[in-house]
Amino acid sequence: MRRPKVFLCLGCFLMVLLLYFNGSLKPASEPPGERSSGQKSRRSPLQTLHDGDQVESAVQAVHQGRREVLDEACRSYTRKRRVLIPEDLKHVIVDDQHGLLYCYVPKVACTNWKRVLMVLTGVAGSVRDPLAIPANEAHIPGNLRALSEYSAPQINQRLRSYLKFVFVREPFERLVSAYRNKFTRPYNTAFHKRYGTKIVQQHRPDPRPEALQRGNDVSFEEFVYYLVDPATQREEPFNEHWERVHSLCHPCLIHYDVVGKYETLEQDSRYVLQLAGVEDQVSFPASSKSTRTTGDMAAQFFQNISPFYQKKLYNLYRMDFLLFNYSLPAYLKFR
Ligand SMILES: *[C@@H]1O[C@H](CO)[C@@H](O)[C@H](O)[C@H]1NC(C)=O
Repeated sequence: MRRPKVFLCLGCFLMVLLLYFNGSLKPASEPPGERSSGQKSRRSPLQTLHDGDQVESAVQAVHQGRREVLDEACRSYTRKRRVLIPEDLKHVIVDDQHGLLYCYVPKVACTNWKRVLMVLTGVAGSVRDPLAIPANEAHIPGNLRALSEYSAPQINQRLRSYLKFVFVREPFERLVSAYRNKFTRPYNTAFHKRYGTKIVQQHRPDPRPEALQRGNDVSFEEFVYYLVDPATQREEPFNEHWERVHSLCHPCLIHYDVVGKYETLEQDSRYVLQLAGVEDQVSFPASSKSTRTTGDMAAQFFQNISPFYQKKLYNLYRMDFLLFNYSLPAYLKFR
């Protein structure tokens, strides 16, 4: 029993070492053509980004600006630079065919991005239309591979030479979207049982037995009390639907080449597909949802939240506001 333990620790050490050295390298300094796939003749998306001749300069300037805000915020607000571990890479999806790494964030068009990647990686077979893939298929873990499933050298090689991108959204809009989707729809019984019952039990004075048992009538206020209660995260990490992008995708440890925004989803998705050189093979589904959560809707939900709890909630999501240049929403009642 002792021996494997020693090997395991040596493995850990090497992994950490490799990842550390990788983290200090700039992707731009990598020699071109360092790809694992056989498509040597085609430029990789990362090369296309650095060559900068495929995309309008105005679009490039927007993305450059976002990168600078992110770099600056990481420098200013993260204390100690920690080292990446494979566990950090569970949300990073790999497309080895095109050299793409996508960190998925629930409530930010991730179903559609997973569908597009299923088309691109070939797991969708001959299907070319992302919307032909049922939403639940897109979330089956085995369909797309996460970077955490690869070996340390494979991880390093991909982090260096693939185009890394993430899509983010105004944090409170994303939060309200998660609340509406998971707690106000009758079909989400799994969330009602798993989280709703606990929230009612811990954050509602004098709950009725039925509410305690079903957990299907959680109010936004109660959801906020649950989120800001320090005991919540001591027990287990937040569910990915309300976990911060900062904790899901580690944008200060992984150098994302493109930060897409939900607010400009269409343009930013086109930009990524353009860099990947697959614009004519697949198109990002146009959003058609009339039920989509908007800023006005978020404002209504926040009306019932006292300034004290608004402030606590802002502090909880503060890094996502700062890293991705979202300003304090005007509807908040604290300053
Ligand atoms: C950051 O946000 C401010 C305020 O909304 C905006 O004026 C500015 O252009 C943004 N900066 C970048 C780099 O996107």
